[in-house]
Amino acid sequence: MAMNQKQQWFTQSRYGMFIHFGLYSIAARHEWVQTLEEISSEQYKKYFEHFDPDLLNAKDWAKKAKADGFKYVIITAKHHEGFCLWDTQFTDYKVTNTPYQKDLLKELIEAFRAEGIKIGIYYSLLDWHHPDFLVDGYHPMRNNAHYIENHPGNMAAYRNYMRNQISELLSNYGTIDYLWFDFSYENRNWGNSQGKGEKDWGSEELEKLIYSIQPDILINDRLGLNRGVSTPEQFARSKGMEGDELWETVQTLNNSWGYDRDNLNFKSAEMVAKQLVDTVSKGGNFTMNIGPNARGLWDTTSEKILDEVGRWLEKHGKSVYHATGSKYPAPADCRYTQNGNKLYLHIFSWPYRTLLLPELGGKVDFATLMNDGSEIRFVDSKDIGGERQATDDLQKEITEVHIKESLDPTMLVLNLPIRRPDELIPVIELTLK
Ligand code: GLC
Repeated sequence: MAMNQKQQWFTQSRYGMFIHFGLYSIAARHEWVQTLEEISSEQYKKYFEHFDPDLLNAKDWAKKAKADGFKYVIITAKHHEGFCLWDTQFTDYKVTNTPYQKDLLKELIEAFRAEGIKIGIYYSLLDWHHPDFLVDGYHPMRNNAHYIENHPGNMAAYRNYMRNQISELLSNYGTIDYLWFDFSYENRNWGNSQGKGEKDWGSEELEKLIYSIQPDILINDRLGLNRGVSTPEQFARSKGMEGDELWETVQTLNNSWGYDRDNLNFKSAEMVAKQLVDTVSKGGNFTMNIGPNARGLWDTTSEKILDEVGRWLEKHGKSVYHATGSKYPAPADCRYTQNGNKLYLHIFSWPYRTLLLPELGGKVDFATLMNDGSEIRFVDSKDIGGERQATDDLQKEITEVHIKESLDPTMLVLNLPIRRPDELIPVIELTLK
């Protein structure tokens, strides 16, 4: 979908933070734990009774997110387990009835907004706690005949519940910039049950309601209506989208969205930074998840990775925020992003001394390494063929490269230092003429 003026924050932001936090954070073995282990509501209740993230400091989370370079946040107000992180009027299964007592969503929204971070709310269309939600193949009680008999499903009542909650969320918490639904699966067929989609959620009506309360809000594409911000999950797109379609890829640090204590399959900071850059080079946003633990803390591994990426962004943020893909073809192991006449060359694998940039001969005015602002010298097509005398040995040498390799004049030759700058990704800023 294309955006209006008030939605431009989205493509300018480029880097978002997903926060998955709920009762599953206590189980600490994946946010789908309730259904993976077919846990009944009665058994799951222990997490509700012990939900007390006593060390959670919303302001601290927001400050860290800001320092780490995130420009928007998406918070799980209700995940598939059905537990509500805000003080909703429409169920007792909410945070204010746990030992924590406070409206956690409110605390988080206020803290992040105060840091200038745009606010997104995640709302699960699936609900494994609501008695009216029709049991299907994803539901924890799918093999429990007694439960199914006693809960024949009343999706009309459930739709009503969702509408009430959405209007509550959009009315009581100020401007919500982004509403993130999860998810539609109408093509699933388990034999004895069917997946759910647009009709089950009443998506058209829901969408109308949303725009009537907050007209400038962005909505993702999981309502099953074939529109909204496209949200590929946990894979890298090979190319961007057509035209001005908005998209963001959402990713985890270790494959689980909720805190997963024994899962140590973490991406490196370098991999995260590369995913971010690769996504922006294709015109998309990159949203990285954190699953805080039951005490309300970010685990040290996640925190370290995000900090490292944040430090890289401090020096290289110009190549990410407000930037997008470029029409110029990037050399092997490189990605371009562009913002106006600034072209950013991200070098994923550091080559020996020379780097050839196709189609840029005669087009570059100046080049620097972003980490220290030092000049990167290059040989331009205009220097070839004796039109201009090479001024020093280095210039002569790189001119030679051009001649020896009989490069065509559209090729620009950069001269790189032998030592790779000690950065997650070295970036060269090229100022175009
Ligand atoms: C999936 C999962 C869910 C996660 C979401 C984030 O669809 O169901 O656990 O919250 O993706 O994109």
